[in-house]
Amino acid sequence: MIRLFVALDFPADVRDRLAGLGGGVPGARWTEADNLHLTLRFIGEVPGDAAADVDAALAEVEAPGFPLVLDGVGVFGSGRNARVLWAGVERSDALAHLQAKVESAVVRAGLPAEERRFSPHVTLARLKDAPKDRIGRFLEDRGLFRAGPFPIDHFTLYRSHLGKGAAVYEALREYPLR
Ligand code: 2AM
Repeated sequence: MIRLFVALDFPADVRDRLAGLGGGVPGARWTEADNLHLTLRFIGEVPGDAAADVDAALAEVEAPGFPLVLDGVGVFGSGRNARVLWAGVERSDALAHLQAKVESAVVRAGLPAEERRFSPHVTLARLKDAPKDRIGRFLEDRGLFRAGPFPIDHFTLYRSHLGKGAAVYEALREYPLR
């Protein structure tokens, strides 16, 4: 079985700026710069032949490239259940279009449809018992974060290798946008 997801990656300078947002929150595990991405579709564990079908279906996706803007920061969960610090993504029709195309490709490859609504974000940190006041300060201090517009000209199928430490993401294939 291999664990897959489809994501957008960012130019090195944007990754560095995102990584530079980290710090100042005890209990936060910050995402390394090279691991920062915007997930379009989490696929999860599939057998190798299903992965080949997903790859073939993704290769058929036709969608235009577009500019992406990252905007602001936020938190999933609240109080003791705060789980993730994220950077926000400015909504655009082009992003929604690409995500819908990717979703239908995955379904065409024979996998079940995603039930959850698409909620674009870039995970900056995973939290464990992070103090509420420090999360609040992070959100205040970093609230004006903005990056881009920068061009998105491809999307990527990633394999996630889980281990003891942070997951290792391996880019399996890049698919160009028009
Ligand atoms: P997250 O950053 O919001 O956790 C690889 O794990 C990517 O797939 C991550 O960006 C992760 O989003 C996303 N993802 C979405 N649903 C997931 C799930 N149920 N389990 C693990 N990762 C998931």
